Amino acid sequence: MSSEHKITISNASVADVDDLHNIEALSFSAEQAAKKEAFRYRLNKFPQWFFKAEIDGKTVGLVNGSSSDHKYITDDLYLADGAYNEDGDNLLIYGLAVHPDYRKNGVAHKLLLHILCVAKARGKKRVSLTCKESLIGFYESFGFVNHGISESVIGDVTSYDMELDL
Ligand SMILES: CC(C)(COP(=O)(O)OP(=O)(O)OC[C@H]1O[C@@H](n2cnc3c(N)ncnc32)[C@H](O)[C@@H]1OP(=O)(O)O)[C@@H](O)C(=O)NCCC(=O)NCCS
Repeated sequence: MSSEHKITISNASVADVDDLHNIEALSFSAEQAAKKEAFRYRLNKFPQWFFKAEIDGKTVGLVNGSSSDHKYITDDLYLADGAYNEDGDNLLIYGLAVHPDYRKNGVAHKLLLHILCVAKARGKKRVSLTCKESLIGFYESFGFVNHGISESVIGDVTSYDMELDL
């Protein structure tokens, strides 16, 4: 991808659900990927925490989460409404994914920075997510601190609780 191709980040909407879920399904195993219904639910109930990345008008990546008073992500929070509470102090990030054809171009970096800036601007105090071992360094480069192995067992993968104070 040449540098002429600009990455733009904006709020996602329900109209994007098929494109977004296609990227999710290409990025995670069937057990780990969020269901399309979960995306639809989040896009209806709290679209202000769902962002898409576009290159030349094509959706190539996503980040989604919710405001919550829960401090850590547990598996039950991936399923329903994620304990959404707009007044909560925390941003829980459920997923970050980039279409395989567009990786290693800084798309995830831009998506993550965007949601972190929005969270700070909306007064959130702390950000939580879980990640697999190979991505610990990626998140540490944003200032996240590894709090060890997560309780999450989705997809039978060992994951780690990563926390960032804003
Ligand atoms: C993890 C994931 C989101 C990263 O997306 P991405 O857009 O490729 O990420 P970025 O390009 O912002 O950064 C990834 C790496 O590419 C490097 N990079 C960024 N721009 C680059 C460029 N122009 N040329 C070469 N490398 C580049 C970054 O330095 C970074 O390197 P690092 O892994 O050593 O830190 C993507 O691989 C993915 O969707 N994976 C599957 C789903 C997943 O695991 N999601 C995370 C769940 S916690």
